Amino acid sequence: MKKVKIALLGLGNVGRGVWTILKENQEEIAKRSGFKVEIAKILVRDKSKQRGVEVPENIVTTDFNDILNDDSIKIVVEVMGGIEPAREYMLQCMGKKKQIVTANKMLIATGGDELFHKADREGVRFNYEASVAGGIPIIQAINESLTGNKIEQLYGIVNGTTNFILGKMQLEGSKFDDILKEAQAKGYAEADPTSDIEGFDAQYKLAILASLAFGTKVAVEKVYREGITNITEVDMEYAKTFGMVIKLLAIVKDTDGKLELRVHPTMIPETHPLANVYDSFNAVFIKGNAVGDLMFYGRGAGDLPTGSAVVSDIVSIIRNNIEFDNTNLVVKNNLWNKEIMDVGQVKSKYYIRLTVDDRPGVLGDITAILGNQDVSLRSVIQKGEIKNEEKVDLVLVTHLTREDNINKSLEEIKKLDAVKSIDNLIRIEDFEN
Ligand code: NAP
Ligand code: HSE
Repeated sequence: MKKVKIALLGLGNVGRGVWTILKENQEEIAKRSGFKVEIAKILVRDKSKQRGVEVPENIVTTDFNDILNDDSIKIVVEVMGGIEPAREYMLQCMGKKKQIVTANKMLIATGGDELFHKADREGVRFNYEASVAGGIPIIQAINESLTGNKIEQLYGIVNGTTNFILGKMQLEGSKFDDILKEAQAKGYAEADPTSDIEGFDAQYKLAILASLAFGTKVAVEKVYREGITNITEVDMEYAKTFGMVIKLLAIVKDTDGKLELRVHPTMIPETHPLANVYDSFNAVFIKGNAVGDLMFYGRGAGDLPTGSAVVSDIVSIIRNNIEFDNTNLVVKNNLWNKEIMDVGQVKSKYYIRLTVDDRPGVLGDITAILGNQDVSLRSVIQKGEIKNEEKVDLVLVTHLTREDNINKSLEEIKKLDAVKSIDNLIRIEDFEN
């Protein structure tokens, strides 16, 4: 059987998964692709590190030139992460006509254009299925399987680490820091987990998904972003009383021809399929004008699930480019060039939790401010028990309202003497709009 030599840039969580899959499923992959895939070189920083997989010493290197200058290596798999030197290494490999597979959402979302164009000029493939939602083949689905649709809305749970944390807080009452450590030990979190918990990782992924689904190049900074570090057990308890759960959602909607793009903790009805996505699972819920509602579900992080997506990209290159000579699928991500909606114009329903003095007139003052900003309330909850020194929790739930109006209201509410703190603001998505 003919052989294809490939190289890995990185042998961390994902690299280990790719190594294991190529070894354990060698026969299936060879039958499906018609080629035996051989990992000829692996780039790492530290050769002496214990890695949990047995890799022959002679194929591990700390010198990138060993890969770049080896003409027998046809496919390079970048699973090191970060911007540099990953970007430079991929550009150089493309210059040598090597096909590229990557899992690097940060790089694609922030600097993908340069890489796509270089790949196009060099006539090489640049595949990135593992960059979004781990093992779920969502890039392929949007690029190929849903092309008969106008996609109208997309809601994603696209970060495994934060979904793992929120799920354990909700179901087991565990502490944030402890769960984060567990997510790191399981290989879900990024090298710097700030990217997960502050929503950057989901922001990159939404920029990629939105670009593909809406044929519009989405600059990552146009995606509104909030992480999960403000979410407390108190908010989870309130969500439960409303029949809701809290998830970090990545949302893109075509609203009157403009794209709403946002990543933030969201209360969703516990009956919605996305509400039952727990652990490191991800899900992407899509509304297409032909297909209707679709949900893709699977492991969003971890060595083997992510490795599964990487290996499918390798096989796809081998199958579609037997001679490795052409047919790059450059993302034509500016087909419609839709305008991005300013986040202040986005409409949502809101949960607002405040600590206030427990005395007459407070609620009246707050509702007057909200009324002046055209914010209509759906419910108000004041917990009977006094927190301390006559202070109580006040929870407001609004009807659909513009973000600008909420922000202006909160600015005014904050100035009231009786308002001690605005403890949280969480958007509510009931999937009715
Ligand atoms: P990781 O565990 O930190 O592994 C990174 C690997 O790259 C390590 O083997 C490291 O070498 C090597 N490396 C990093 N910088 C290097 C450099 N300058 N020169 C040579 N080698 C270098 O990361 P990971 O979790 O596998 O993630 C890799 C990529 O996949 C990232 O882009 C990440 O966002 C993406 N991704 C991860 C997951 C997941 O579940 N973890 C899922 C989807 C996508 P040493 O081991 O010697 O330090
Ligand atoms: N850190 C990422 C996550 C890895 O937790 O989802 C998968 O992209």
